Amino acid sequence: MSGHAAPVPMISTAQGPLTGQAHVPGDKSISHRALILGALSVGETRITGLLEGEDVLDTGRAMRAFGAEVARDEDGTWHMHGVGVGGFAEPDGVIDCGNSGTGVRLIMGAMATSPITATFTGDASLNARPMARVTDPLAQFGACTYGRAGGRLPMTVVGAADPVPVRYTVPVPSAQVKSALLLAGLNAPGETVVIEAAATRDHTERMLAGFGAEIAVRDVAEGREITLTGRPELRPQDIVVPRDPSSAAFPVCAALIVPGSDVLVPNIGLNPTRAGLFYTLQDMGADLTFENMREEGGEPVADLRAKYSPDMHGIEVPPERAASMIDEYPVLSVVAANATGATVMRGVAELRVKESDRIAAMATGLRAAGVEVEDGPDWWIVHGCGAGNVPGGAQAASHLDHRIAMSFLVMGLASERPMRVDDGAPIATSFPVFEPLMTGLGADIRRSGA
Ligand code: S3P
Repeated sequence: MSGHAAPVPMISTAQGPLTGQAHVPGDKSISHRALILGALSVGETRITGLLEGEDVLDTGRAMRAFGAEVARDEDGTWHMHGVGVGGFAEPDGVIDCGNSGTGVRLIMGAMATSPITATFTGDASLNARPMARVTDPLAQFGACTYGRAGGRLPMTVVGAADPVPVRYTVPVPSAQVKSALLLAGLNAPGETVVIEAAATRDHTERMLAGFGAEIAVRDVAEGREITLTGRPELRPQDIVVPRDPSSAAFPVCAALIVPGSDVLVPNIGLNPTRAGLFYTLQDMGADLTFENMREEGGEPVADLRAKYSPDMHGIEVPPERAASMIDEYPVLSVVAANATGATVMRGVAELRVKESDRIAAMATGLRAAGVEVEDGPDWWIVHGCGAGNVPGGAQAASHLDHRIAMSFLVMGLASERPMRVDDGAPIATSFPVFEPLMTGLGADIRRSGA
């Protein structure tokens, strides 16, 4: 919801070690896709482990608005009756995607090749984000879009009555753009081909195959080429959503920087297109291990064990790893502040167009907390203070960005003075149980009143 809820100021303070198990919620990317593909198949799809954060709930409401039945059991299983490819009904009202770029971009793609019109909006963060990256290629399918200046929401999409398939090379590394085009391609006759220079998260491809679509992936000179045959009949599925590595990042990074900590984070999806942070932390000298490696529902899964690691050092993060850890740079910068030497992060221009400009948001808060940061258009460098030497004692602005809020709250757990965040409300978009989960491990994170 584009909730205009009152801000929730929060504070975190260093105290004893973090210990125990952290059961983080379901994967946000997979949850969105499960709801959308469930809505596009005929028959009952059951989803367990769905992330019940605001972003995903907004997508569930949107699928209802397009005609799917979406219901939740008391035991937390979600049941959907989809309308089939090309079966979306025209929504009666405006589709409010709240804070979610994934939600709005994927849904625009999914409806853009049906002869219906829908208007999309979101919160102040989402309405400031660029949509041309999706609407330009959707126009090639035959859809028309009418948005605000700069291709911003609110925006009306008039779906193509006679869609044509598209061959498109995605100019930015974005799984949202790739996925929007594949979902649009579902209702275009013939083959839609999407090419990406660098592999981004591949949940859409995996799930489309699982629902019975004909989809082929191969490496070509330009990168990774995905070919989807349009107008399949998608078969409903039973989906078990793995737990979110991007949420696991917060208790993992907290354990690495809080003295004496030893935390187990079970059942984390370790799809190689998502797991870059964990390899980066290991490269920095973190005591982080993968236990009980296994495969579940076609995705690699492991239990992560993170222990306090006072000897971490800065590294140059390989830029080719950026897509596989794009959401994790904010919390990585907090670990970097607690390491020795410089952590250099290049090839990350996309960080500037997330829920906030994440380089600017983190750099500002880190500097206020006594950490030296340099930054440019697509790079930043954090100069570490060494374990336990981050001064802290600052108030950071979350800019309606859940990951910024959580990163600074993790930072306060290991800094000399507490960290304050002006608004922790956005945390509910992706990790509604962040606060009780972290306090259950022993963290002092609380709402701080005015
Ligand atoms: C997502 C893709 C990424 C990521 C976002 C989720 C997805 O965005 O930052 O949190 O589920 O496809 P981009 O596609 O803009 O890189």
